[in-house]
Amino acid sequence: MTPMVKAEGVHKSYGAAHILKGIDLEVNNGEVFCLIGPSGSGKSTFLRCINHLEKINSGRLYVDGQLVGYRQKGDKLYELKDSEVAAQRRDIGMVFQRFNLFPHMTALGNVMEAPIQVKGESRAVARERAERLLDRVGLADKAGNYPSQLSGGQQQRVAIARALAMEPKLMLFDEPTSALDPELVGDVLDVMRDLAESGMTMVVVTHEMGFAREVGDSLVFMDGGVVVESGHPRDVLGNPQHDRTKAFLSKVL
Ligand SMILES: Nc1ncnc2c1ncn2[C@@H]1O[C@H](COP(=O)(O)OP(=O)(O)OP(=O)(O)O)[C@@H](O)[C@H]1O
Ligand SMILES: [Mg+2]
Repeated sequence: MTPMVKAEGVHKSYGAAHILKGIDLEVNNGEVFCLIGPSGSGKSTFLRCINHLEKINSGRLYVDGQLVGYRQKGDKLYELKDSEVAAQRRDIGMVFQRFNLFPHMTALGNVMEAPIQVKGESRAVARERAERLLDRVGLADKAGNYPSQLSGGQQQRVAIARALAMEPKLMLFDEPTSALDPELVGDVLDVMRDLAESGMTMVVVTHEMGFAREVGDSLVFMDGGVVVESGHPRDVLGNPQHDRTKAFLSKVL
């Protein structure tokens, strides 16, 4: 089966700063793939490469068998047009640490917006789905609230519903709970757990080791722009093999 994400020797630099130093990994269909590692190790950068918010300098990155951002003819790569990149990105939902909701729109409006604007969907169809998704993330009764009238955890659940409204085949999460007060984290993780159980393929950058252990199918520990260690979360977290992994885990577990 074609992996949902495949990275082959992915390098990324910002000017002289070499951030990703040859990332190789595969995320299978339906898998919850957790990425952990110290601050600055390149986790967010890698996520941003997956949906081509960043261009890679070398290597290959595929989503669902398609090269991200490029077309290959023979040995040569040709950059896709903006409209083609946008079409690829449409299939990938992204949820950030900061929820980035539209402040002037209600929760319902936020979830309805992209299908209407991007897919040209009718308001009625978009509304019906948005109501269903808000219900799914436990916010049916908050549909009319503006972001400023929602807690951080509620805003993050709206952000998840908003990403799901585009019916993505892959969801990327970049520390979705790290900006939240501790008592709000559980509800967001519950929504992610539910999403995982529904079979969604998810790449999750997280500091929530409990979530990684319970829900994750694979886990990668990154440090300094390389994959240091990977495997089943139970194994990597319970029996790390490398000193760098051990040192990191001793600080966060
Ligand atoms: N746009 C940019 N221009 C220059 N350097 C950048 C840029 N974005 C990230 N970096 C650098 O790349 C490195 C990796 O950053 P990245 O955000 O991927 O780390 P991270 O693993 O997500 O860390 P954190 O856990 O703190 O979120 C950092 O040293 C950062 O300063
Ligand atoms: Mg980050």
